[in-house]
Amino acid sequence: MTGTSDEKPMKGLFIRTYGCQMNVYDSERIRDVLRPLGYAPVDAPESADLVVVNTCHIREKATEKVYSELGQLKRMKEASGGRMTIAVAGCVAQAEGEELIRRQPAVDLVLGPQAYHKLPEMIARASRAIGDRLETEFDTVEKFDALPKTRDADGPAAFVSVQEGCDKFCTFCVVPYTRGAEMSRRVDDIVLETRSLASQGVREITLLGQNVNAFHGPAPAIEGGEDWTLGQLCRHLAKIGGIERIRYTTSHPRDMNDDLIAAHGDTPALMPFLHLPVQSGSDRILKAMNRGHTAGQYRDIIARVRHARPGIAIASDFIVGFPGESDADFEATMQLVRDIGYAIAYSFKYSSRPGTPAAEMHGHVSEAVKDERLQTLQALLRLQQTEFNAAQIGKTLPVLVTGKGRNAGQMHGRSPYLQAVHFDGPESLNGQIVDVRIVGASLNSLTAELLQVREGAL
Ligand code: SAH
Ligand code: SF4
Ligand code: F3S
Repeated sequence: MTGTSDEKPMKGLFIRTYGCQMNVYDSERIRDVLRPLGYAPVDAPESADLVVVNTCHIREKATEKVYSELGQLKRMKEASGGRMTIAVAGCVAQAEGEELIRRQPAVDLVLGPQAYHKLPEMIARASRAIGDRLETEFDTVEKFDALPKTRDADGPAAFVSVQEGCDKFCTFCVVPYTRGAEMSRRVDDIVLETRSLASQGVREITLLGQNVNAFHGPAPAIEGGEDWTLGQLCRHLAKIGGIERIRYTTSHPRDMNDDLIAAHGDTPALMPFLHLPVQSGSDRILKAMNRGHTAGQYRDIIARVRHARPGIAIASDFIVGFPGESDADFEATMQLVRDIGYAIAYSFKYSSRPGTPAAEMHGHVSEAVKDERLQTLQALLRLQQTEFNAAQIGKTLPVLVTGKGRNAGQMHGRSPYLQAVHFDGPESLNGQIVDVRIVGASLNSLTAELLQVREGAL
């Protein structure tokens, strides 16, 4: 044996992440929670002692992927002589629980999204083959409290979780069942985490929540008073030295309150980009989806946001082929898209999820019709995205440099509108915000020329 007696031997950790940004964030926190136990990330599952599969349950395909991945891991585990521990985390773990172990006995541990702070304890129990292999309790407060208050930054842009869970119960969606009730973090804890990231060079934070604009976290202890809103939180975080850009995702139209809209106008650090999912442009379908707003109300919100922050880029999510969706309903969605004009949008075929009210509804739409509608919608969205990108040509934009590009001498970064930007420049710019002139655009990225480097950047 080498090393001192209190040095723990390093153990390999491999985390595979599916799903939304919340899962990406959770995977980072799982890594943080395991570091004190001597777990260090490795590049491939074959060389890991512990493999965590952080799963997504949102559509049927996402769930199927988990089982095929677990089949591959089972073979690796056998090849390792059983040395590998397999943990399944995230939304499939929450939804399927015990069923996961039954369907794939190679799985050692199952933990829901509110339980990963218990992972060290579970690993200890598993190694002694005692106690429960399943943790699917909802205790978001306990989880937030148990997480390390500071963390390691990984580049100049970082996610910060501020809110979890969902009480909206859209009739198609599993999230309220997998993530539990809406719950907000304390402002003090969010500030501590953001400061720690800023001190490590983070310039841009994205505040995360399943319904991030429903945020209502306890106010800072020294101020007391009522819970804060997301608008208040953004203004406060903008004052932290080093934090130059703030984004938030994903928001819900029902929680787009006046104060948050005003913050888009009065807080320059709040980036001119809003992801506000609408799902459908038909009032009949919005009602059946239990979205709690009409297409007209959504249009009104977008108009007010655009008034507060002219030029703001709008993004959204759409579902085609929800049960009962007629040609006329689909046309209403197409018209909404034409009227709003999106910078980017994500669109999906409706996927029936067990246990959700929509799964029991009449009028399920055939796969062929869903396919056709998706293609029609995506063609329009691609056109709008290409046009939005092309409209940047000739403009000077501040770009947060996030790393080296594919070609020698090339760097990449992101525009205020969350577009990928490539330009020639020195590596020393990494992590800085630099001004570039946009000279080219395609569907997915912009090319640019470096204009000037802000003082002190080189
Ligand atoms: N909390 C976020 C979205 C979470 S899921 C919100 O409310 O906007 C991300 C996207 O997946 C949703 O916006 C929706 O467009 C899509 N989605 C959710 N459930 C789905 C289902 N059953 N079938 C197809 N798409 C779905
Ligand atoms: Fe799902 Fe609706 Fe909640 Fe978004 S708001 S997570 S779509 S239930
Ligand atoms: Fe998927 Fe869960 Fe996120 S179902 S989209 S990982 S909240």
